[in-house]
Amino acid sequence: MKKQIYLVLSAVVLMSFYSCSKNKDVTETKKDTEIKKETSFNTDESAKGKELFYTASNLTGLKCADCHSDGTNKDNTNTKYFADVIGANKRQSVFAGMYKGDEVTSTGAGASFCWETFLKMGKPISGDEVKAFNAYFESLSKGDAKTLNYTTIAIPKPDKSKLKDDQTKIAGMTPDIKNGERIFKETCGFCHQGNKIKHAPSFPDDFEGNLKSIVYHIRMGSKFMPFYPYEMISDQEAADITEYTLKNLKK
Ligand code: HEC
Ligand code: HEC
Repeated sequence: MKKQIYLVLSAVVLMSFYSCSKNKDVTETKKDTEIKKETSFNTDESAKGKELFYTASNLTGLKCADCHSDGTNKDNTNTKYFADVIGANKRQSVFAGMYKGDEVTSTGAGASFCWETFLKMGKPISGDEVKAFNAYFESLSKGDAKTLNYTTIAIPKPDKSKLKDDQTKIAGMTPDIKNGERIFKETCGFCHQGNKIKHAPSFPDDFEGNLKSIVYHIRMGSKFMPFYPYEMISDQEAADITEYTLKNLKK
């Protein structure tokens, strides 16, 4: 009799155990499908995009993550001065309107431009790499794809006459050297202090500059140096940086 009770009891225990774990299985499968439904990007592609985002160019030593934030590298203050890449593939236009509509996805939100201009990866970006960047940018977004509007004279064609006006205007401004020091350290110093980035002259040691050359480089960029739109560095801030850079040299 006792034995029978034990048998029944253990059968009940086993059955409830089984149904519990079965329920668990059911909810887990449901979760999986929910996730799949929300994820419109390919996770393998996105993982590859992330890897590329953190791969340094052999030629310049620069990687995408040195200039752009993906939301996790904000302690690198250089990224404050460039667009973030969160949901960039879904923006209506990128690069101050240079790429619009379908061009946004076909260039990886303009990643192709940076790949060739700043990284000099040594080979053109491939279709698979563009896809990988698009998937990575999408994986970072929560449906937000705000188009960034900024103004630059560097692209699509360098505007030399506007640059001349800027140089004259900036030369006439009253600079704030402390603010210049802050911005220099946050962004310029990333490349111009300590030979971390190949091909970037170390300031002030290797620099023989003047106001015109500094303003030129800020607005137009150069070989491996990025240009800065007015929204990222204003004319006043350009005057501040110039003052800091030139005063530093004279010491
Ligand atoms: C040396 C700095 C630098 C590096 C390195 C760099 N970029 Fe850029 N990137 C820029 C500049 C400058 C712009 C145009 C101004 C801006 O958006 O801040 C830009 C613009 C972009 C934009 C368009 C943003 C928009 O909405 O207009 C995307 C996307 C982008 N870069 C992705 C990348 C990717 C991916 C890489 C690596 C392959 C990369 N960048 C490497 C400087 C850089
Ligand atoms: C991503 C790296 C990077 C950043 C950030 C950067 N530069 Fe440069 N810069 C370079 C490189 C590389 C060169 C050399 C370009 C060439 O060979 O044409 C250069 C050249 C220059 C030159 C010419 C140097 C000379 O001796 O003639 C000036 C001036 C300059 N940068 C100013 C600045 C200022 C000001 C900032 C910040 C607002 C800045 N740079 C931010 C990479 C950078």
